[in-house]
Amino acid sequence: MNSFHQKIIAATIISTLSTLSTLGGSFSASATTATTAAQTPQKAAVQITIDTKKTGPVINKNIYGQFAEHLGTGVYEGMWVGPESPIPNTRGWRNDVIGALKKMHVPLVRWPGGCFADEYHWRDGIGAREQRPVKMNTNWGNVEERNAVGTHEFFDLADQLGADTYVNGNLGSGTPQEMAEWMEYLTGDGKSSLAELRRKHGRDKPFKVDFFGVGNEAWGCGGNMTVQHYTSLYNQYASFLKAPKDYMPKIIASGGHDDDTTWTDYLSKNIHEQWNMRFDGLSFHYYTVPTGVWEKKGAATGFAEDQWISTLKNTLRMDSLIKNNLAKLVKNDPQNKLSFNVDEWGTWYDVEPGTNAGFLYQQNSLRDALVAALNFNIFHSHAERVKMTNIAQMVNVLQAMILTEKDKMLLTPTYHVFEMYVPFQNAQFLPLTIKNNPDYRLGKTSIPTISASSARAVDGKLVLSLVNTNPNQAAEVEVNLTGEKISKLTGRVLTATAMDAHNTFANPAAVQPVVLNANAMQLKEGKLQLSIPAKSVVVVRLE
Ligand code: AHR
Repeated sequence: MNSFHQKIIAATIISTLSTLSTLGGSFSASATTATTAAQTPQKAAVQITIDTKKTGPVINKNIYGQFAEHLGTGVYEGMWVGPESPIPNTRGWRNDVIGALKKMHVPLVRWPGGCFADEYHWRDGIGAREQRPVKMNTNWGNVEERNAVGTHEFFDLADQLGADTYVNGNLGSGTPQEMAEWMEYLTGDGKSSLAELRRKHGRDKPFKVDFFGVGNEAWGCGGNMTVQHYTSLYNQYASFLKAPKDYMPKIIASGGHDDDTTWTDYLSKNIHEQWNMRFDGLSFHYYTVPTGVWEKKGAATGFAEDQWISTLKNTLRMDSLIKNNLAKLVKNDPQNKLSFNVDEWGTWYDVEPGTNAGFLYQQNSLRDALVAALNFNIFHSHAERVKMTNIAQMVNVLQAMILTEKDKMLLTPTYHVFEMYVPFQNAQFLPLTIKNNPDYRLGKTSIPTISASSARAVDGKLVLSLVNTNPNQAAEVEVNLTGEKISKLTGRVLTATAMDAHNTFANPAAVQPVVLNANAMQLKEGKLQLSIPAKSVVVVRLE
């Protein structure tokens, strides 16, 4: 063992139950536990170079968007308990969950599905709640859908969160008339009977619909259509989506998924904005499945290192999937009018044993935190076209921010990463280069050790995120900054001892961000030297 290997970096992480400023700049520790991770660094530091004068596009805040589908306990129980519930709520929405979501600055919520959207009939969800029809949720567990949450409740949720709205219309089993009338009900500002009906139900002014989706997964649960058939239907349905100028949402076509770029290609070639029809962007879906096999996806916890690396490798595919789709858009839409919106993404595991298979309930571990951060770093690098993404889903479903059990709730590691990345919302992307970035390998699988992204936040400060994918070894990173003099550093890290560390109702604070120790983050001769613990996400603010 040479002297280098003898040099063990003890990355002492002061684990604080911190009151964390939402911009990550100040911390007030109220209690401490200490974790010491002794890790051997690699031989030479990873070299990151950021030219702070070369700015890129704005990282749209909606890249941090959420998805709330009528699925399992995602909406009912997880967020909506109804005004009569003993669980403290505001007009039916749980105060604890809404409070936590507000702290992570949810910028946008997509609703009501997903597959559910193409069986949702908006008239079922208006008027007196006790008189609304009961339907069966045939997509998700075949349970009763009582329609307690409908249009007005959703917009109240968005208001309480201070979030933009993305309403997904029913193309699959609806009609152009039904979709057009929903749009009129939502946005009409005159005396039309639908605008008056909305007023009768308590909402005078039009709702602010920011995005409207024309169907969902038309190639699958949304109607098993060919792209040609969907394109014709889009033209037909979207022609009748009319709204007063100030209330017109951006209209999003339902696009492709995974490796298939034909939807992006065909839609962007064949749908054109007309005088009476909008086309503002298209969607794309990609889920991270550890094994890559839908029939046996892999467990959310208790996995071995082979599924740690396969999950991260599969999630990193997002970069090439986006690139392949953007290549089609650059060709078909050179003026960059169309946005590319990954409106479903995240991990999809085998459901937790003993839970309803149709509810898609899964635990959420440190691995999910890294998945989220790796995707954010990818989305930032495509911010020119990727204007919105929606992680699936917000509460209790798939890669959730929050899990609930009766009146209890916990924040997942994914929640914490979203909160750590808040400074990136609407920040100016700063391209960076990474050199000397060794691969982390296991058997025949390898991925880059470090993923990084940098931006100038809206408050003018620089922000840098780093992910160390290696679960066994810390990484030394040297950041060369040109065009900026730095005198102050603050940082936070999210890590844990186990790859599948997660929060439980018995121990809800097992995984949470802590202040990055000053030893792990130093300025030397104008360079920033960082020690990034194994399997961690770090966000540093530079002033
Ligand atoms: O997010 C769960 C489901 O995944 C959505 O309803 C559907 O669009 C996708 O297949």
